[in-house]
Amino acid sequence: MDFFRFLIGFLAVAVAGVAAGPAVSQSKTTTLLVVPEVQDTGVVKFMLPRFTLKHGVRVTVVDEGDASGSLIADGDTVVFSRGGTNYGLTVHDMDDPHMATLAAWMTGDVGRRTILSFKKDGQAVFEAPVVVAEAEEAVELEGDAARGADLALSACGRCHVVGEVNRMNGIGSTPSFAVLRSLDDWLERFLAFYALNPHPSFTIIPDVTEPFDETRPSPISPVTLTLEELENIVAYTATVDPADLGSPIAHQ
Ligand code: HEC
Repeated sequence: MDFFRFLIGFLAVAVAGVAAGPAVSQSKTTTLLVVPEVQDTGVVKFMLPRFTLKHGVRVTVVDEGDASGSLIADGDTVVFSRGGTNYGLTVHDMDDPHMATLAAWMTGDVGRRTILSFKKDGQAVFEAPVVVAEAEEAVELEGDAARGADLALSACGRCHVVGEVNRMNGIGSTPSFAVLRSLDDWLERFLAFYALNPHPSFTIIPDVTEPFDETRPSPISPVTLTLEELENIVAYTATVDPADLGSPIAHQ
């Protein structure tokens, strides 16, 4: 008799435990709209289990209606491209922390690599996005080239020849902006210059760059910029004529 009471008590606890288990993980859920042409590839079933395993967030995929975010053609943050169309993630519910986790994963290195590694019949299904033209357009719209010219001179001009204004004052071994401008991927390099050597050791972009290594002497004259100021510099750089081997550095 006592044993049965014990058994029933035990079962009740066990059942409650099982019931509580999924309830807890179900609270970490979000919804994602994925356009049918992407769903049809099967990538959703490939990538989302990997995400859920890593972050404990379950994702309900819908193909229409309300969702916290959408993976759609020309979405805000481009993730991959297929057949010449860029697909990206647009977040609708900024207050959904689980969508934020998904967005960070999907638009970050790991998520992108997972999606690009998806194969069907041994063939990659998606390509890395082509974003240069789009970014260039955005930069021209957003940055203020006139302000950028002043900033380039004050923040970069002690090492780089940034244009006619300091043609005689750069450091000879440092590439001029005109030379950098002649590279196909100049835009990516400028947008990320703070991560490219030698800049990390002396560049501060609040909320973006990591603090300097405390075990090393701090830089004597750090370059401090906001992202907005960097956009201005990039807009200015877009107006610099690319260097042409053999002709003098020119800019307008
Ligand atoms: C203290 C000197 C110094 C300052 C200040 C400086 N740079 Fe540089 N930068 C360099 C040197 C040196 C290189 C060449 C590095 C190399 O060849 O590996 C370089 C290279 C670059 C490159 C190409 C990087 C690559 O790896 O492709 C970009 C883009 C760039 N700088 C942008 C900037 C911008 C924008 C600023 C100002 C906000 C700036 N730099 C300020 C020294 C400087």
